[in-house]
Amino acid sequence: MNEPTPLLAVSHLFRSYEGGLVQALRDVSFSARAGEVVALTGPSGCGKSTLLSLLGLLDRPTAGSIQFAGQDTALIRNPNAFRAADVGFVFQFHHMVSTMTLQENVEAPMVALGLPKRERQARASMMLERMDLVSRANFLPANVSGGERQRAAVARALINQPRLLLADEPTGNLDSTNGQRVIDLLVQHARAQGALVLIATHNPEIAQALDRTIELLDGQVVSGPSHQRLGGPRELVRAV
Ligand SMILES: Nc1ncnc2c1ncn2[C@@H]1O[C@H](COP(=O)(O)OP(=O)(O)OP(=O)(O)O)[C@@H](O)[C@H]1O
Ligand SMILES: [Mg+2]
Repeated sequence: MNEPTPLLAVSHLFRSYEGGLVQALRDVSFSARAGEVVALTGPSGCGKSTLLSLLGLLDRPTAGSIQFAGQDTALIRNPNAFRAADVGFVFQFHHMVSTMTLQENVEAPMVALGLPKRERQARASMMLERMDLVSRANFLPANVSGGERQRAAVARALINQPRLLLADEPTGNLDSTNGQRVIDLLVQHARAQGALVLIATHNPEIAQALDRTIELLDGQVVSGPSHQRLGGPRELVRAV
């Protein structure tokens, strides 16, 4: 069977700081396919957030390459446009704009795509309904619960249907029920849109339930038997 071309191919990636004194990533290589949900694990300081920043083009590597959909991302002239169209971010702390309602926060990413106001409103309302947040749409982030805020952050990250979703400890501040709900929403996105979802997590139960794990230690991928669920995303879709 032919392997499909990976959506993401990371090759010999290095990122150092302080003139090389801190080596956050050291020769990281892996690839991942559309539709996969991959856990990124490892102890504090191992390089998870650094890697997610590089993948989202928020930062540039010291050496190595990142190919996205067959394109070398180093050649992308306008990272803002790339992010707006193709990347969604979810962080441990929600990063919502505090002066905007949940509805306005979810509408915001569509401005960069040039969608008219009426369509932005309609799409945001539909997304908030999916997230069970209709009754909170006109609330400011400070006036809703942590779980609601994080679901709104997920809604904002998914609204442009990104092909790459990067989540950095998205459940770190949530109880297990709300945490599971956020993970379910991210997995549904991967399955429904054929997106690649990477989730940095310290929670082994969450990692175990995803398609596979990439484990980092001291900036390097730990080789050896990190977990891999039998079957691929396709099989999992059928099983749902
Ligand atoms: N801007 C920076 N300047 C210097 N060192 C940095 C910088 N950003 C990260 N580092 C260092 O790079 C290493 C990797 O950090 P990173 O934030 O990627 O780890 P992490 O795996 O996300 O950790 P955590 O689980 O605590 O979030 C750490 O040693 C960190 O101190
Ligand atoms: Mg981190």
